[in-house]
Formats: sequence, C-alpha cells, structure tokens
Amino acid sequence: MAPPLPIAWFNGSFMPLADVRVSPLDRAFLFGDAVYEVIPVYGGEPFLLDPHLDRLERSLGEVRIGNPHSRAEWVALIRGLVQRNGGGNLAVYLQVSRGADTGRDHFFPAGHVRPTVFGMVTPISMQQPDPQGIRAITRPDQRWGRCDIKSTALLANVLAREEAREAGAGEVLLVRNGQLTEGSASSVIIVEAGVLVRRPAGPEVLPGTTTDAVFTIARQCGLTCRDEPISVERLQSADEIWIAAATRSIAPVTMLDGRPVGSGRPGPVWLKVSAAFDASKPGGASP
Ligand SMILES: Cc1ncc(COP(=O)(O)O)c(C=O)c1O
Repeated sequence: MAPPLPIAWFNGSFMPLADVRVSPLDRAFLFGDAVYEVIPVYGGEPFLLDPHLDRLERSLGEVRIGNPHSRAEWVALIRGLVQRNGGGNLAVYLQVSRGADTGRDHFFPAGHVRPTVFGMVTPISMQQPDPQGIRAITRPDQRWGRCDIKSTALLANVLAREEAREAGAGEVLLVRNGQLTEGSASSVIIVEAGVLVRRPAGPEVLPGTTTDAVFTIARQCGLTCRDEPISVERLQSADEIWIAAATRSIAPVTMLDGRPVGSGRPGPVWLKVSAAFDASKPGGASP
C-alpha cells in the first residue's frame, strides 16, 4: 500500500502537500523574500519549541513581515501538522513569505497583500552518527551580511553545501576574514582542553537553538563554555569540532580539509555531551 500523502499547512488550512498551489508572483519565489524555521519533533513532541518560535518571530520582525499568527496559533499549527502526519520523529518546516502581489516589484506590496504561510513535515535523521564522525571542508563565506535572519534566500549556502558533497564531505565550514562563521546548515562548536567554544552571536551567524541547548547541558555537566572568535588556525588545532543543528543534533567532525581533527575519532567530550543532549529530548530519544 502506498504511504499516505503528507499533510501540509497552507494559508489557513491543512491539506495534502501535493494539493498546495503557490502563486508564481509569491515573493518567496521571485525574491527569496521569506523567512523559515525548522523544529525537531521526537516521539510526537516538539523539542525546544519556544526558542524556535522566538527566532521565527525575530526573523519576521527583522525583515518587517507582519507576524500572521499568535504564539498559541503557531503552537496549534505545529501540533496539528505533527498529529496529522502520524507523530513520531520528524522535523516541522514553517515558511512565511511577504505574500503574492499582482506583479513583480521590489517595493513592499500594499497593505492588502497577506503573508503566505506554509508548513510541512520532513523526516528527521535518527541514524547513529557514523562511528568515524563526519568529514568537513572549509570554504569562503560568500553569504550576505544578515545571516542572523533565517531567510529562505540560501543560494550561497546551497552552492557551498554542494561543493562539500562533491568533495565527499558532510558539511562545509565557512570562513570570513580568517574567522570561522558557521556551517552551511549548522552551527559549529570546538573543544579545546575540555572547554567548549562557539563564536559570539552577531549578524554573521544564525543564533543556533541547538548550540544554546548544548551549552546549557554542557554547563550542567560541569564543563566550561565560552563565546569567542575562532580563527582558522584555532579551528585547525582544536581537539574536537562539532556541528550542531536541529535536524542533526550534534555530530563530531573528525576530518577537516583532509586532516584528522584531534585523534581523528569522535572525542570524549562529544561522547559525554551528546549522550546528555539526547537524554534531554522528549522521551530521551537517542539516535
Ligand atoms: C546556517 C545555519 N546555521 C546554524 C544552524 C543551526 O541552527 P539550529 O540549531 O537552530 O537548527 C542552521 C540550521 O539549519 C543553519 O542553517
């Protein structure tokens, strides 16, 4: 029997994903004029829901798209999508564009144009991370100057990610002016002598919900965590490198640009913190 069609949310209604019809004049399609959010769900229960909705509201505010829903409505929409798609482990994708006008013009449309709201679920990777860890490469960060906004305009990320795939790597770590910014679709944490370090928040990076939660848990485990700039040299000499993202949890990078990171195996700090992080998920879901 064919699997049931996934159920999406589109402008006020739940419907099969295959039935969603978006206008070619939608500003997400024409300009990438939209923001999005990805919320992990374990055992049918959203994880870190408030930080994700805080960030969605912030992204909308920064690009001046009126928030189409109250917090309670967003929560009901997310829970509705989870329930209609059978619960379990998945990721909820939400996107809000500035809407579809009657033509193509860079100016914001007139007040009657409503934001387009789209939501769907995607599978979440729950595989045990490769026991060898993942390979990463470094590349120049060619993105715009407001990477703190979770915008759908991701062309530079797409190109960098494809370069990583073609190089046989699982992620690309981006470098601007000799400093690490973040991964193409992840935050980065390094470990030096047992201390966790991530670069400070700012317009060059997305404030990661996963890294925030990881830092809280690592501190509860008695570890020191710092926000400090990370130069390429510092990255290259780190004992451990991790990437962190809602859909990937925390994964150890064991090869960087073809050279082993630390021992070349997932490190002891990652083993400890990732186990504590998995235990904090709804139902203590472990990969
Ligand atoms: C560019 C970028 N940075 C960081 C992250 C990590 O953010 P979060 O942990 O909230 O998923 C993501 C997630 O997709 C991302 O795309």
